[in-house]
Amino acid sequence: MIKLLEKLTQINAPSGREDAVRAFIEKEIKDCCDEVTTDALGNLIAHKKGNGKNGKKIMFAAHMDEIGVIAKTIDENGFIRFGAVGGLYTKELVHRRVEFLNGIVGVIGSEEEAFNKKAAIEKLYIDIGAKNKAAAERKVGVGDMAVFRGAYYEKRGTIISKALDNRAGCYILIEALKRAQNSENDLYFVFTSQEEVGLRGARTAAFSIEPDYAIAVDVTDTGDTPNAPAMAVKIGGGAAIKVMDRSVLCDSDVRSMMIETARKNDIPYQLEIMTDGGTDAGAIHLSGAGVKTGGISLATRYIHSPSETADAGDIEACVKLAAALAAEKWR
Ligand code: CO
Ligand code: ZN
Repeated sequence: MIKLLEKLTQINAPSGREDAVRAFIEKEIKDCCDEVTTDALGNLIAHKKGNGKNGKKIMFAAHMDEIGVIAKTIDENGFIRFGAVGGLYTKELVHRRVEFLNGIVGVIGSEEEAFNKKAAIEKLYIDIGAKNKAAAERKVGVGDMAVFRGAYYEKRGTIISKALDNRAGCYILIEALKRAQNSENDLYFVFTSQEEVGLRGARTAAFSIEPDYAIAVDVTDTGDTPNAPAMAVKIGGGAAIKVMDRSVLCDSDVRSMMIETARKNDIPYQLEIMTDGGTDAGAIHLSGAGVKTGGISLATRYIHSPSETADAGDIEACVKLAAALAAEKWR
């Protein structure tokens, strides 16, 4: 079903190094909007002019960066110590494969017992199979970044991949932009940079656009796995309409309008309260003199792992909701 999503997830582009995914998205959307620009932080901003006088300026945002690691030092034996780029669960990293942006693949090892799941990041290293420091340095340098390897799988509506956070959001916005061809609203579709390190790109993008309303599109946790913390979101439950996360209390008028729009268009939806993470909505609603902001979220299990898991029907519901909101009359 979703060839484009597969391509998006398999591009390696951690925070601050969004180049490859930005170029890919730009090519994909340039024919369906009036103007595409890239700003100083690396946000890709697509503008689709409204065809009505009463339209509002609406900003949709999906971050295009993914979590990763960065080489800090290389020791005499060629092992690489690394830092986190974004929120890594260090206890889950042992024996995972990472790929540097130049294609070099390494395995994360631990100084402690391999299955000591408490491993702190200081006890971990990347093994790229080098004989010694000099050999390692011919492949990887200090400051080089790597991301998880995690092939794309899709069968009967279930999708598993690395970087569904947030290439699924990018996919949703690309599809919504393609479907939102006749809106009176002035539409900005922003593919933001550096979300995973603190919602950085969204902040400058919102500052320059000064939207009337904003909708951030990202993944969210679920409460539907064994022993999961209490959370009403489940995969297969439809587009999740954000009520709050750690970075934002969504504007209640925007939320009501999103619910109304979902009902009117028969789009399955659920309500999201995520107490554990933030999204671009957090940065956007605090920009300038403040922006009324909401969020569309994709229910995703195992976020920030190489095996993020989501439902194709939910993705389609998110596309429909974003496209409907782009076309909707906003008060
Ligand atoms: Co994330
Ligand atoms: Zn995200």
